[in-house]
Amino acid sequence: MKVLCGPASPSLGKKLSSFLGAELLQCEFKRFPDGEVYVRIDEVDEPVTVVQSVCSAEDFIFLTLILDALEGVDKIVVVPYFGYARQDRKFKEGESISIRALARAIESDAEKIVSVNIHSQMAKNHFRRLIEVDAMPVIGENFKEDDIVMISPDMGSLKRVEIAAKYAGCDFDYLEKKRIDADRVEISPKEINVENRRVLIVDDIISTGGTIVEASRVLKSFGAKRVEAVCVHAVFANFALNKLYNAGVEEVTSTDTVEKITSRISVAEEIAEKIKNIGYS
Ligand code: R5P
Repeated sequence: MKVLCGPASPSLGKKLSSFLGAELLQCEFKRFPDGEVYVRIDEVDEPVTVVQSVCSAEDFIFLTLILDALEGVDKIVVVPYFGYARQDRKFKEGESISIRALARAIESDAEKIVSVNIHSQMAKNHFRRLIEVDAMPVIGENFKEDDIVMISPDMGSLKRVEIAAKYAGCDFDYLEKKRIDADRVEISPKEINVENRRVLIVDDIISTGGTIVEASRVLKSFGAKRVEAVCVHAVFANFALNKLYNAGVEEVTSTDTVEKITSRISVAEEIAEKIKNIGYS
C-alpha cells in the first residue's frame, strides 16, 4: 500500500503513512493561470490510500482528478473533513443535497471512504461504504491532565462531548443554541455551574465562530474563569480565529482534519487503525 497526500492534507497524510508503514506516492499538483488545477501521479501497481480533506470546491476538484489519475488502482479514500455535510437534506424545494452529490461522486471511484466525525446521521445515510472515525476519544485524552469542565454549545453535540469528557475524566454540561442565520446564534439562559472554572467548549466544527463566541459570552456571564475551545474541524470561515480571540477565547485547539495553526491534535493514528482493519497491504 502507498499513501498519496492531496494538497489539503499533506501533514496528516504524512503522519498516516508512518502509522501504516507505507511509502508516500510521488505526485505533482499545479494551478494554471486561469485557476484550473492539474494532477500527475507516478505509476503504481499496488493499492493506494488517498488523503484529501474537502474544505472547498477546489479541494473536491483535486480529489476528483487524483481518483481519475489512479484509474484501475484499488483505492481507499480518506476525506478527514468532509465539507458540504451540513446540506444533508432539502431545506427548500428544488435544492440539491450536497453531501449526497459528493458521496456519490467519490464512492463511484473508491473501495472505501474513511472520514472523521461527519456532521450528522442524515449526512452519513447518503454513503454506502463509509467508515467513520470518532475524534472525541483523542480530543479527550489530550486534556486528561487538566482541571476543566467541557461544555457542548448545543444538544446536537452533547453525545460527542460526553465521550470526550469520559476520556478526559472531567465534568461536562451543555447549552441550548438556536441558529438565527448563517453567522448568528442565540443561546438560551440555562442553569449551568461553571463559576471560577476553566471551561472548554467542544464542538465538531468551528466555521464562522458565531457559536463559540456566543457560548463564551454566556459562560463568562455565569462566572467562568477562563474559556477555551476545541473542535474536530477547524474550518475558520471569514477570519473566525481572529473573531474568537477578540471575543476573549483564550485558546483554540483543533485536530488536523483541516490543517491549521490550531491543529495540535492528530487523528492519524485513529485513521490508520481503521485502514488496517480493512485489510489492504
Ligand atoms: C452545528 O450544528 C455545529 O455543530 C457547529 O456548532 C456549527 O457548525 C458551528 O458553526 P459556526 O462556527 O459558524 O457557528
